[in-house]
Amino acid sequence: MVQRSTSVRLLGGLLGLFLLMPVLMAPTPPSMCIPLRTINESLSHRRRYMKHNFPVNYTIRVHHEELFKLSNISKMKLQMGELDEIIFQRLWFLVNQGVLKKIIRVLPERHPSRPYTAELERRLKDTEGVFVQSHPAKVFQQELPDAIQDKWDCLTEVTHRVPETSWRFATPKSLLDNFCETMHCLFSDCFKATKSMDSFCRKGRKKALRAKS
Ligand SMILES: *[C@@H]1O[C@H](CO)[C@@H](O)[C@H](O)[C@H]1NC(C)=O
Ligand SMILES: *[C@@H]1O[C@H](CO)[C@@H](O)[C@H](O)[C@H]1NC(C)=O
Ligand SMILES: *[C@@H]1O[C@H](CO)[C@@H](O)[C@H](O)[C@H]1NC(C)=O
Repeated sequence: MVQRSTSVRLLGGLLGLFLLMPVLMAPTPPSMCIPLRTINESLSHRRRYMKHNFPVNYTIRVHHEELFKLSNISKMKLQMGELDEIIFQRLWFLVNQGVLKKIIRVLPERHPSRPYTAELERRLKDTEGVFVQSHPAKVFQQELPDAIQDKWDCLTEVTHRVPETSWRFATPKSLLDNFCETMHCLFSDCFKATKSMDSFCRKGRKKALRAKS
């Protein structure tokens, strides 16, 4: 019985992959570059707002899936084969919206980092609006590969139903570092792709390869 459901899921996954083929490696729509660069600009002040304004080593509680780094993306690519970049971009929006919400939740009304974080959240939401508009609706209706769908479900699970063991602690600054790094690589069309940048984006991949062997 277990085996059967596994093969059904596998078939579903293969079918999903097949359906994804036509949009494989679609470039980032140029309309997204302006809002993404605005986010990049905001993120350049993250040290001040996410580190200096907080107590030393202050951490917040996040879902373990919200630790979303380059190495995660590379690992997923290794495990699942080349997936449509859009899938990772969608996950990126979901993860970072959750991260910003959690940071805002610990900030008192008058905390100096609050307007900064709220603005970043607004900018991310607006950028997602442009993202959704610049792709055909069917891109967002297609089924996600199982492993991605599982992460998606965890990230959208109501907080009180998340088991204790799924939480991690991270500094706000490290979360925004991940936010920034993954943005530069997932939307590289909008950021200057220098040689050093290319190798930086592949660094995660090498790390994942080392971890596997
Ligand atoms: C993104 O921000 C960094 C500063 O953190 C800056 O050096 C870089 O030029 C920006 N990139 C773009 C494309 O705006
Ligand atoms: C903060 O963390 C660093 C590295 O883990 C540690 O060396 C340092 O002592 C910590 N500082 C405080 C005040 O806890
Ligand atoms: C990224 O990797 C870390 C550590 O391996 C893991 O805890 C986390 O869940 C991963 N994030 C995602 C989105 O898969």
